[in-house]
Amino acid sequence: MKLTKLGWSDLRVSVLCLGGMSFGSTEWMVKGNEAEKIIKTAIDGGINFIDTANIYSNGESEKILGATIKNMGIRDELVLCSKAGGKFNEVHQGFSRSEINYQMRGSLERLQTDRLDVYTLHTWFDSLETHSILRSLKQIVDDGRTSYIGVSNFLGYQLAEFYHAAREAGMDTPVLVQNHYNAVYREDEREVIPYSSGKNIAYTPFSPLAAGFLTGKYRRDSTQDTVRSRTYPAMKKRYFRSEDFNVLETVEEIAGEKGTKSSIISLAYVLAKGFIPVFGATKAEHVLDAIQATEISLGDKDVKRIDEKYVPHPVSMGTAGY
Ligand SMILES: NC(=O)c1ccc[n+]([C@@H]2O[C@H](COP(=O)([O-])OP(=O)(O)OC[C@H]3O[C@@H](n4cnc5c(N)ncnc54)[C@H](OP(=O)(O)O)[C@@H]3O)[C@@H](O)[C@H]2O)c1
Repeated sequence: MKLTKLGWSDLRVSVLCLGGMSFGSTEWMVKGNEAEKIIKTAIDGGINFIDTANIYSNGESEKILGATIKNMGIRDELVLCSKAGGKFNEVHQGFSRSEINYQMRGSLERLQTDRLDVYTLHTWFDSLETHSILRSLKQIVDDGRTSYIGVSNFLGYQLAEFYHAAREAGMDTPVLVQNHYNAVYREDEREVIPYSSGKNIAYTPFSPLAAGFLTGKYRRDSTQDTVRSRTYPAMKKRYFRSEDFNVLETVEEIAGEKGTKSSIISLAYVLAKGFIPVFGATKAEHVLDAIQATEISLGDKDVKRIDEKYVPHPVSMGTAGY
């Protein structure tokens, strides 16, 4: 597995990040032995970068990851990230000082660790709260509960505002931005990607396979559903337009020419752009496919073929509901 530096930090991460949202209790997710097998396959395959959030299955994803990592005894070899601020329940959400402390404590307990490598704001907030949030984040970096801060679901102006507020206050700027990006959703190419690249903030996109749309299991003009497409409402809203199928069909064409799978080409496409995809897996074989994507390199011509089919989308954000 190839390693890369995470933005301006001193962390060396695998070029793939395993997403933790598939571990839990919703119908499309996995738990128990199945989840453990996926996590072990990823780690054994050299993936050292793992992402989760307190709100994924209300803490269950963190518990599953925490138990598996503890059993494997490899916490120190991993770059472990969780997120705060999404709606955990009616009381616990957002970024007040007491909430950040409460949510951080819960994440550390469930992950069975004394610190995170990156703690990510799951969503944007009211600009008026920026200074107070920065102070709380400084505290958790200073006392070692996390080494770095990340942000997620930020628009271009929000990333710029947060970056400059942190600079002006003499506090840490974010080391990564985790936003939505894949071959059928490329809206960040306008602002967030050029901005983060200029500031050496790693771009680590979520849903690089468009929640499975780009793996080839869906067909134009077919009513075929999967558990995920039935029970993850964002999916049908975000993808499945006729133009999205034009992109998918180009991915399938390239996969056919190279004798490989669409899922592998779709991930290789995000890797070819220089990003670190935060991919999801509900089977250990999905992880093996993802690893194969790091072993092929998609040339400029093929990237261009996929790019050319894209038609802009309305802006859509992440799972935190923002
Ligand atoms: N910050 C945020 O707001 C936010 C939002 C969403 C996600 N995330 C993060 O990003 C991670 C990934 O999100 P995602 O699950 O939407 O990502 P994804 O990688 O786009 O989609 C994963 C899904 O694709 C299918 N799949 C994966 N590999 C496959 C293969 N080789 N062959 C066939 N199907 C395959 C599986 O669907 P089936 O289960 O249907 O087989 C799997 O559940 C999450 O776990 C989470 O860590 C963050």
